Amino acid sequence: MGTYKLIATTAMGIEAIAAKEVRELGYDCEVENGKVVFTGDEQAIARANLWLRTADRVKLVVGEFPAFTFDELFEKTKSLPWEEFLPVDAEFPVQGKSVKSKLFSVSDCQAIVKKAIAERLKIAYKRTSWLEESGSLFKIEVSLLKDKALLTIDTSGAGLHKRGYRVDQGEAPLKETLAAALIKLTNWQPGRKLHDPFCGSGTIPIEAALIGQNIAPGFNREFLSETWPFINSETWDKVREEAEDLANYDQELDIIGTDIDHKMVEISKKNAFEAGLGELIDFKQMQAKDLTTKSEYGVILGNPPYGERIGDKKEVEKMYRDIGIAYETLDTWSIYILTSHPDFEKLYGKQATKKRKLFNGFIRTDLYQYWGKRPPKEQRSE
Ligand SMILES: C[S@@+](CC[C@H](N)C(=O)[O-])C[C@H]1O[C@@H](n2cnc3c(N)ncnc32)[C@H](O)[C@@H]1O
Repeated sequence: MGTYKLIATTAMGIEAIAAKEVRELGYDCEVENGKVVFTGDEQAIARANLWLRTADRVKLVVGEFPAFTFDELFEKTKSLPWEEFLPVDAEFPVQGKSVKSKLFSVSDCQAIVKKAIAERLKIAYKRTSWLEESGSLFKIEVSLLKDKALLTIDTSGAGLHKRGYRVDQGEAPLKETLAAALIKLTNWQPGRKLHDPFCGSGTIPIEAALIGQNIAPGFNREFLSETWPFINSETWDKVREEAEDLANYDQELDIIGTDIDHKMVEISKKNAFEAGLGELIDFKQMQAKDLTTKSEYGVILGNPPYGERIGDKKEVEKMYRDIGIAYETLDTWSIYILTSHPDFEKLYGKQATKKRKLFNGFIRTDLYQYWGKRPPKEQRSE
C-alpha cells in the first residue's frame, strides 16, 4: 500500500462540510479554498470516492513545485515518478489552468507536461518508439497558481455529484453535492420529519434518504480509478463490502417531497426508484403554501424559484409572502430556504436565525435558517 496526498475538491463555501466528511472517514485533513487536503492509501482513494457526499471529485497529487519557466516546468515534471501510477499503455490527456503566474499560456503548459510525462515513461519502460496510449485513462491536470505548479490525476472520472440515480430532471435541479451539504447544514436527524416543498426532481429528499440510511452516495456508479492497475480490484471489493455493511436499510424515515407541478412529482418518483428509495420517500403534488401538519419538530428544507427570470418575480414574491404566513404556526419546526432573492426575509415576514452564503452553480444564494424549538430530551435523537 502506498501513501498518497489527496485533494477532495468542493464548491466554494462547502469546504468545512466536506472536511467533516473526510474526518468522519478517519483521515486528518486541512481546508483550503475549494479543497480539502488529506493523505491516505489506495483504500482512502476508493473510500473517499464512494462516501464523500459534498465533494466534487478526488484528485491524487503527483507533485507540487515552483515553476517560472517552461524549462523548469518540463524538468520538474519529468523528475516525478509517473511510472508508479501510469502503466506503459496509459492514456493520459493533460488539462490545465493558470492563475496569476508567469506561465500563463495554458496550452503550452499542457503540451510541456504531456511531453515531460511521455519522456519519463519512455525511459522507465525502456521504449524508444511512440507510446500507444491504448490502456486505462489517467486525466492529468497541471494547475498553476502564483507560479506554483500542482500536478494531479483525477481519481473520480465523472464528478461525484453524478450518483447514477438521476434519470430525469426539471429546469433548475440542485447539484446532488449541494443538496447533501444543505441537509448537513440543517438540524435534521433520521428520526425527524423532513419536507421539501419545492422538490423538483427530488434531489433533497433522495439525498436525505441516502444520508438517513447511511447509504454510500457512490454505491450506484463506477470511478475512473477502478480501472487503474496500482489499485487492485480487491481494494474496491472490500470498500464496497464495507459500504454494504454500514448501510442501515432498517432505519425508518419520514421524508416527503412536494411540488406544484405534477410532472416534477413524477420525475422525483422515477429518480427515487432508480436510487432504490422509491418506497421510502413520499412524493405528491401540492402548493408550498398549503403545507399543514400535526407533526412536531420537523424540518422544512426547500430550494424555491428565485424569481430571477423576467415575468417570474411578482409571482415568486407573492409565494414567499404566502409561505411566510403558512409556516408561521409551525413553531417547533426548523425551516431552511435557499434563495438568491435579496429581500427574502422582508417578503417572508421574519428575520432568519442565521444566514449562510452558498453558491448554487454561479448564483450567489443564502440559506435562510429559521431554527425551531429544540425537541424535548426524550424525543431528541442527537
Ligand atoms: C429550483 S426548482 C427545485 C429544484 C429541486 N431542488 C431539484 O433538485 O430538482 C423549484 C421548484 O419549485 C416548484 N414550485 C414553484 N412554485 C411553487 C409553489 N408555489 N409551490 C410548490 N412548488 C413550487 C417548481 O415547480 C420547481 O420544481
